[in-house]
Amino acid sequence: MSLRIACGTAHRALASRISSALGADMLAGEVERFPDGELRPHMPGIRGDDVFLVQPTGPPVNDHLVELLLLIDACRRAGAGRVTAVVPYFGYARQDRRSRDGQAIGARVVAAAIASAGADRLMVIDPHTIVLEAMFAIPVETLTAVSVIGDELLSSVTPDTVVVAPDLGAVKLAERYASLLGLSVVIVRKTRLTGTTVRAEELVGQVGGRPAIVVDDMISTGATIEAAVRLLLDNGACPDVVVAATHGLFVGEAVERLAKLPLRRLVVTDTLGEIESHALPVEVTSIAPLLAAAIGRLHDDEPVNELLGA
Ligand code: R5P
Repeated sequence: MSLRIACGTAHRALASRISSALGADMLAGEVERFPDGELRPHMPGIRGDDVFLVQPTGPPVNDHLVELLLLIDACRRAGAGRVTAVVPYFGYARQDRRSRDGQAIGARVVAAAIASAGADRLMVIDPHTIVLEAMFAIPVETLTAVSVIGDELLSSVTPDTVVVAPDLGAVKLAERYASLLGLSVVIVRKTRLTGTTVRAEELVGQVGGRPAIVVDDMISTGATIEAAVRLLLDNGACPDVVVAATHGLFVGEAVERLAKLPLRRLVVTDTLGEIESHALPVEVTSIAPLLAAAIGRLHDDEPVNELLGA
C-alpha cells in the first residue's frame, strides 16, 4: 500500500507540513457545499492506498466533524486500502460523562460515528479525556505534545519554577511536564460554573515568589487559565506567568480575557488553524514532525510506543 496524506478543509496547512516532513504528496479533498449547508466531499485517486486523513474537529466543530465522517466514507468508497483518521484536536472529548440527568455522552457518539463511517484507526494528540480510547471499537493512537512543548519551555525553567495544573483533570499532564522539566507540581481546584465561567477555589502547593508554568490540554474561552493565573498571583507567584496548552482554540472572548493577564509566554501547538495572536504573546510550535513520525511508523507497521501519551 502506498502512503497517502489526505485532508479536508479543517487544517490544510497542517496536512501540508506533515506531507513535507514525510516527503510525501498531499491530496486535498474537494468539499462541495450545497446552498442548504450540506457537504459533499470528493476524494478520488486513492484506490489501494494507506490513507492518513488529517482533519482536526475544532471550530466550527460540527461542520468539521460531519466533513470528517463524509471524507472517511468517500475514502472507503474510493477503495482506500486502509484509512486512519488523524484528528489532532478531537472535539466533543470533554463530553465523556453525564454531569446531570438527561445529557448525552458526546464523545461516545462521535467515537461510534467515526468507526461506523469506516475508519480503521484514529490518531489524536492530548485528548481531553483519557478514556477516549476505551470509547472506540477501532485502535486509537494517542500521542502527546508534552515533549514538543517541553522543549520550548526549557528556556523559561529555573530551579524554583513550579508547573501548575489549572484543574484536577490536568494533573496527569502537569506531572508529565514536571517530570520532563525536573520541577514540582502545584494544583488548582476549579469549579466550572458555566461554559464560559469557572471559579478557582483553592491552590494546593507553595507558589510564593516562584515562577509558574500553567499547563493544560486546551484553551477554549480562556476562563480556566484566567482563574488559575489570578489565583497564582493572589498567592504571591511571580508575575509574568508562562502558559502552555496543546490546543489553542481561543473562542469567544478568550483573546481579550487573556490579554489582561501578565503573561510572559503563551505556548500552543498548531493542532488548530491560525491564531489571532496580536494581543497575546503566543508562540506556536508545530506538532507536524511528531505526527509525521507516528504516521511513518504506522505505515511501516512499526510500533509508536515512545510517541504515545500513556
Ligand atoms: C477542562 O477541563 C479542560 O482541560 C480545559 O481546562 C478547559 O476545557 C478549558 O476551557 P476554557 O478555556 O473555556 O476554560
